[in-house]
Amino acid sequence: MLRTTVWMTLGGAATCLALLACGQDSVQNGSNGQRLYAEKGCVACHGPRGEGTFMGPKLDALASHWERDALVRFFVDPTATAKRDARLAELMRAYRTPMTPIAASEAERLAIADWLLATFP
Ligand code: HEC
Repeated sequence: MLRTTVWMTLGGAATCLALLACGQDSVQNGSNGQRLYAEKGCVACHGPRGEGTFMGPKLDALASHWERDALVRFFVDPTATAKRDARLAELMRAYRTPMTPIAASEAERLAIADWLLATFP
């Protein structure tokens, strides 16, 4: 009985690990990224479909401006990045408040970046 319980617990842990590993997969990142886009409050400024609001620009042509890693670094400190990039600095000035840093784990930032680049290339 005890032995069965131990094996069931181990089996459960193995499944969790397998699922975590799947989280790195790009398809999974796609849906995570979409969910995180809503959960982390991006929608408030960029709109539910990235169409933009008076608080933030439309998300468009991202792949022509961003490498995945640069986008992830931007999320950590948007203002510092915008100060080094004339196009972003212009966008920053056009809105009431600059973009706020994203409170998220590195894995979450990657998932958001992957989803954005695939959805608004
Ligand atoms: C408070 C409003 C606000 C929030 C919240 C916000 N942004 Fe922004 N975002 C902006 C503004 C304003 C800019 C223009 C550049 C700047 O201010 O740094 C911008 C710029 C961007 C850009 C660059 C657009 C381009 O043309 O290159 C991306 C990508 C982006 N935001 C994604 C996100 C994501 C993803 C989230 C949520 C995790 C988010 N933003 C949350 C206001 C916001």
